[in-house]
Amino acid sequence: MRVTIFGTGYVGLVTGTCLADVGHDVVCVDIDAAKVEGLTRGVIPIYEPGLEPMVKANHAAGRLHFTTDAAAAIGHADLIFIAVGTPPDESGSADLKYVLSVASTIGRHIERPVVVVNKSTVPVGTADQVEATIARELAARGVDVAFDVASNPEFLKEGDAVADCMRPDRIVIGAANPLAVEKLKRLYAPFNRNHERIVVMDLRSAELTKYAANAMLATKISFMNEIANIAEKVGADIEMVRQGIGSDPRIGWHFIYPGAGYGGSCFPKDVQALSRTAQQHGYDAHLLDAVEAVNDNQKGHLFELIMRHYDGAPIAGKTFAVWGLAFKPNTDDMREASSRTLLAQLWQAGARVRAYDPEANEEAHRIFGEREDLVLCDSARAALADADALVVVTEWKQFRSPDFVRVRQALADGVIFDGRNLYHPDEVEAADLAYYGIGRGRSI
Ligand code: UGA
Repeated sequence: MRVTIFGTGYVGLVTGTCLADVGHDVVCVDIDAAKVEGLTRGVIPIYEPGLEPMVKANHAAGRLHFTTDAAAAIGHADLIFIAVGTPPDESGSADLKYVLSVASTIGRHIERPVVVVNKSTVPVGTADQVEATIARELAARGVDVAFDVASNPEFLKEGDAVADCMRPDRIVIGAANPLAVEKLKRLYAPFNRNHERIVVMDLRSAELTKYAANAMLATKISFMNEIANIAEKVGADIEMVRQGIGSDPRIGWHFIYPGAGYGGSCFPKDVQALSRTAQQHGYDAHLLDAVEAVNDNQKGHLFELIMRHYDGAPIAGKTFAVWGLAFKPNTDDMREASSRTLLAQLWQAGARVRAYDPEANEEAHRIFGEREDLVLCDSARAALADADALVVVTEWKQFRSPDFVRVRQALADGVIFDGRNLYHPDEVEAADLAYYGIGRGRSI
């Protein structure tokens, strides 16, 4: 089928590439000419395992095109996806200006019937706004072209985006017109193998499903972080508690890892946006607000542990080795990353930072620029040089089993703050290092 996708960010680029990979004819549109030009040469603007060879192969095969020419791209399509950003506005609501600007572009250029599919995470009711915007443009042109609007939220995770997209656990389709549903079912047929993964529903339910999924996952994390904080106070170990509850299938093993707080471009913004939507409809979403508040607090928890360790002594002039800057492993994304809160707090207290991230150093340089209290190192070991203490913020695989004796030799103050509970306290302490994890009351 002929597909056009507006937006070559995470969602748009990955979706476009996967659709091309199963044989569809895909055009990706972006307003950023440099990005489009780079993509045609196989330069991928994001770090995402497996994506680059797929983009190159499908581009070379003539199934995946990149352009800034919206009008031509619209002329190409049976299905037009909107996959542009929905950043929060000042109030925390999702800002729809990019989505609606694509909608009006579509309205200005469609000549034949299409299905317009919202893939961006958008508040409930956005499909109606997209439809009204397109209709307005058509009326202004004085033409009558049949079109449908569908909601087809994306559930891919950064770092696993290609796998999530190629093997989705569900494909949610919200649409009023059964013909639009049929078109999307045909499009996704190659991904709908072994068992039925397509769930068809009305537009508003599809829009809310996306927020519900992310809010539920964020809630699990904040819940565990809250229990971790309680564990710390009462002298229990959250890792034991986690193992004690995860085997209950009603709870499950996923997303019950306590840590330095959730970050990224989705959870923080989606939890906030859902709460705002609820408020706008006269409902106070107390639980969602608490999930957000617990997370904001958790991002400062590593610094609290550092303060606890130094017991009131000033940390000005001390150097902290920081392992991990990205909001999670396998990405270079630092949006809303816990590392940003930690670094700001350390700098505020007059400390210095030697940081290493396998992928996000460049991004950190872009965000923080040159500053004399930040050294970006090219290895985990280099970050330890001349440091007083180590803080682990992101659980990259390569940080999982360091040589603790070496770490001990490198660190003047001999202490590890483990923001992802990667290590066993006994093993760390056996190397004569003090250990602080998240919710590990027994070792504090
Ligand atoms: C999240 C969802 O997992 C995807 O299903 C969704 O499609 C995506 O948002 C989106 O809306 O686009 P993502 O933000 O890429 O994906 O990252 P996750 O793997 O979900 O991690 C989010 C944050 O939660 C990370 O900071 C991670 O460290 C943290 N986390 C995750 C925990 O602290 N504990 C856990 O047990 C799991």
